[in-house]
Amino acid sequence: MKHKILDFEEVDSTNECLKRDYEKLSEGTVITALHQTKGKGRLGREWKDDSKSLVFSLLLKQNIDPERIALLPLLTGCALYNTLKKFNLEASLKWPNDVLLEGKKCCGILLEAITKEKVEALILGIGLNLNDDSFPEEIKDKAISLHQVTGKTYDRLEVLHAFLDSFDELYALYLKKDDSYLDILRNHSFLDHKKVFLNYYGENIEAEVLGVEADGRLEVVDEKGKHLFLNAGEVTLKEVYKKSIE
Ligand code: BTN
Repeated sequence: MKHKILDFEEVDSTNECLKRDYEKLSEGTVITALHQTKGKGRLGREWKDDSKSLVFSLLLKQNIDPERIALLPLLTGCALYNTLKKFNLEASLKWPNDVLLEGKKCCGILLEAITKEKVEALILGIGLNLNDDSFPEEIKDKAISLHQVTGKTYDRLEVLHAFLDSFDELYALYLKKDDSYLDILRNHSFLDHKKVFLNYYGENIEAEVLGVEADGRLEVVDEKGKHLFLNAGEVTLKEVYKKSIE
């Protein structure tokens, strides 16, 4: 895929920029910025940055298959795993959307769709903590940057180019309906064998994670021994949940 990279000093949100201009921009366009004033996370959360991270969004508008959209955040996680590997970092992947180093989140993925009669475009937003020295009190136990792991300083655009190469490689498989890239998630899944809380069709349940299926669904077993297969959603580690209510 051809990528045109538009690099700004400051924007509200790189996802919002692509949303406003997706009709004029071509497939593969990337918007990145040194700082976002209104960075968005999943589930309506904020994504704050201190100008030391890599924040960008990638526009997809060709070959959109609505039934396969849910695979894209998983694919992106796998591409990020491969990207970090290029910088000698061993990540793990927390299904469905997070990339972790040393058990803490270094990267988040937010996929948004623009839908009219059909899905017109997809916007894949990524925030990767690169050179941050510290994080706000409320997330400092859960967040980490590449710099905190290695002591090195990373070049935003170098990491961005490394990601785009990794993404393109896996996306070419995805377009051929070859989802073998999911093995990366299956082999480096952070949640395997962990006890979690999750919301299943409106019900909060406690379960143990068994693993990621070949099709990307998360298999868990609930307290009654029933096996459930999740397509999407949020899972919270039991220890983390306990901590947040204490
Ligand atoms: C998450 O909640 O984990 C997802 C975070 C996604 C943040 C990125 S930063 C670049 C892009 N622009 C945004 O406003 N959000 C995404």
